[in-house]
Amino acid sequence: MTCIKFDRKGHVAQLTIERPEGLNALNKELLQELSATLLQLADDGQIRALIITGAGDKAFVAGADIAEMADMDRNRAEIFARFGNRVMSQVSSFPVPVIAAVNGFALGGGFELALACDLRIASAKASFAFPETGLGITPGFGGTQRLARLAGPMTAFDLIMTGRRIRASEAKELGIVLEVTEDKELLERAWEIAGLIAQKAPVAVREAKRAIIEGLDLTLMEGLSLEQVCFGRCFETEDQKNAMVAFLKKEPIPEFQGE
Ligand code: COA
Repeated sequence: MTCIKFDRKGHVAQLTIERPEGLNALNKELLQELSATLLQLADDGQIRALIITGAGDKAFVAGADIAEMADMDRNRAEIFARFGNRVMSQVSSFPVPVIAAVNGFALGGGFELALACDLRIASAKASFAFPETGLGITPGFGGTQRLARLAGPMTAFDLIMTGRRIRASEAKELGIVLEVTEDKELLERAWEIAGLIAQKAPVAVREAKRAIIEGLDLTLMEGLSLEQVCFGRCFETEDQKNAMVAFLKKEPIPEFQGE
């Protein structure tokens, strides 16, 4: 891997997007590496939370690579968007929660990558924008869909039609970002949140993510049925039995084993 750095401590893993020559912009090679890495990690039962951040002190990801897109025709553009969307969907359907630690510019495809994550925290200097309409295109990696679902259609209209760049503080007011941290504290906080998730029962966390993410595409009644299935699955685990027995005996809840 040349553009994706991998770190791991205990049950938490971090992917750092590192392409300094283009402010971590997403070209095909980078997207392929990200896709391959996610595919491999998705099968790793030991990982309980994943953090995605950008290398350097300037950008999370400054968008899809404009140099690669400039001479695309309609067909190639659609293929590129399909591929980008597939990678973003790998992020959103990743079996454990994914935290975007947004350390700088999150523009276009970078904003879309952050939106595909489950939780977003941002450093005070981070900023978000969809510059696409100012370049003659629409967002193509899920931005129109995920932003409208997350923050409502009016915010999606505002940010996508005007292309205006918002600071982390406004992103928090709009519900796009969970927390804004001091620049130097971003990763520490991301690891802290990931650590809290990693302490919880792994099957319960995975099933809860599945219920939330898949439920967003369902009617309420279908979503409630899915939730029942996810709830039931937890009762096949030793973790559930051990935790509830310990609670009833007024003993400390034992460390979760993931089964
Ligand atoms: N695609 C390709 N290259 C990009 C890029 C992108 N999305 N974003 C930045 N780069 C490149 C620049 O071309 C520049 O390359 P160079 O050193 O060979 O000239 C390098 O990264 C550094 O960017 P630069 O513009 O010099 O930095 P800056 O601090 O002046 O501005 C940005 C930073 C992010 C505001 C500016 O680079 C920018 O607007 N980028 C495009 C963002 C965008 O429109 N993304 C959505 C694409 S659909």
